[in-house]
Amino acid sequence: MDSIVIRGGNRLSGTLKISGAKNAVLTLMPCALLTDEILTLENLPRLADVDGFMHLLNQHGASTMLKGARNGGFGRAMTIKAKDIASTVAPYDFVRKMRASILVLGPLVARAGEATVSMPGGCAIGNRPIDLHLKALEALGAEIELAAGYVKASAPDGGLRGGTISFPVVSVGATENAVMAAVLAKGETVIENAAREPEIVDLCNCLVAMGAEIEGIGTDRLVIHGKDRLHGATYSVMPDRIEAGSYACAAAITGGELMLSGARGADMPSIIAGLRDVGLAVEELDDGVKVTANGRLDPATISTAPFPGFPTDMQAQFMAMLTLANGTSMLTETIFENRYMHVPELARMGADIEVRGRTAVVKGVDELVGANVMATDLRASMSLVLAGLAAKGETKVLRVYHLDRGYERLEEKLSGVGADIERVSEG
Ligand code: UD1
Repeated sequence: MDSIVIRGGNRLSGTLKISGAKNAVLTLMPCALLTDEILTLENLPRLADVDGFMHLLNQHGASTMLKGARNGGFGRAMTIKAKDIASTVAPYDFVRKMRASILVLGPLVARAGEATVSMPGGCAIGNRPIDLHLKALEALGAEIELAAGYVKASAPDGGLRGGTISFPVVSVGATENAVMAAVLAKGETVIENAAREPEIVDLCNCLVAMGAEIEGIGTDRLVIHGKDRLHGATYSVMPDRIEAGSYACAAAITGGELMLSGARGADMPSIIAGLRDVGLAVEELDDGVKVTANGRLDPATISTAPFPGFPTDMQAQFMAMLTLANGTSMLTETIFENRYMHVPELARMGADIEVRGRTAVVKGVDELVGANVMATDLRASMSLVLAGLAAKGETKVLRVYHLDRGYERLEEKLSGVGADIERVSEG
């Protein structure tokens, strides 16, 4: 199993290329199941979850092909052709490793009339239910059965039909499944209280490129006019706003200056507001976002919320950064009940953090010290890398496979801007 070893203290500076977004590509890939023609996704990030999803699509009968990289090795493309759906079952082994597998549910039932997907169950960042995904499909006429750890959704004989879906809470995943099912349902579907994350905009834009008709893109009310069929398309995955935000925190925590090439400021308003709050200069440019640290960081009070609020996917990285702020910060996690697994690990590096219910009180300290640390999810692991970049001495982050799920060539990107970081294999 690989680890990342960081010798902290280097100030980062230079240009770092932002990859295609993990949270977008994992909802764009299942769109290929909605057509028998080819969907080509460009600006594809090279991530373990992308490979995992590719294998899932293969076992549903889709053929996939990876095309060579441009951009100095970044930005590959993938073609996906689901001429026929060979299997409508998403087995436990896939879903267990990758929660995003649940996103084949909507497309499969819309295209093939049925889908059987293993229930994802709880996971490291809390009990993540899928009831809203299922209610959305029921609103489109699907029948749902739960048995032996699997959810089976079947469309009535004539297929799914449009309906009104009104979400009681904002759910990114349930909105994605609902949109992908509705584009092939008969008639009109209205989705109320839809998630408005930029990745959902990316999903809708891709579906429109495939012939779908969607009104209200980017708002919390989507109106979808179902089509009999969709066609192929070529679509470029949006830049990863969470990766960009994570590297902005790397600049902040090392007192550095980074040009995040390709990042889109418009996708990250609350991240940029948070960075400015802690004292960073942030410039939104045509070709990226530039962040510059100016001395010691200020503390901040931040609460996670659905877009355009502050993303839960940035909470851990901001916490790492704020461990070195000049004062006390308050971070409140409102999306997931158990997303503080990085706290004890950061504490082992010298951070002063107390969790009170859903709020973490972070008292800034003068320095962090390197340690062997391990996290149990992707963003928590990134927070440990950030802490390691600033810590005195050597930090070893174990279980790198979490990072490989969501950060393309992390050590290469960071060493390119001055970090002393390497991947080591241990038998
Ligand atoms: C969530 C985040 C997303 C992030 C991803 C991975 C939000 C709104 N969503 O997306 O930004 O990229 O985690 O970290 O910030 N819920 C239900 N029933 C359901 C589905 C969800 O009760 O069927 C609840 C969840 O428990 C949670 C909230 O709704 O409290 C939002 O969850 P949801 O957006 O669906 O989670 P993800 O799609 O995983």
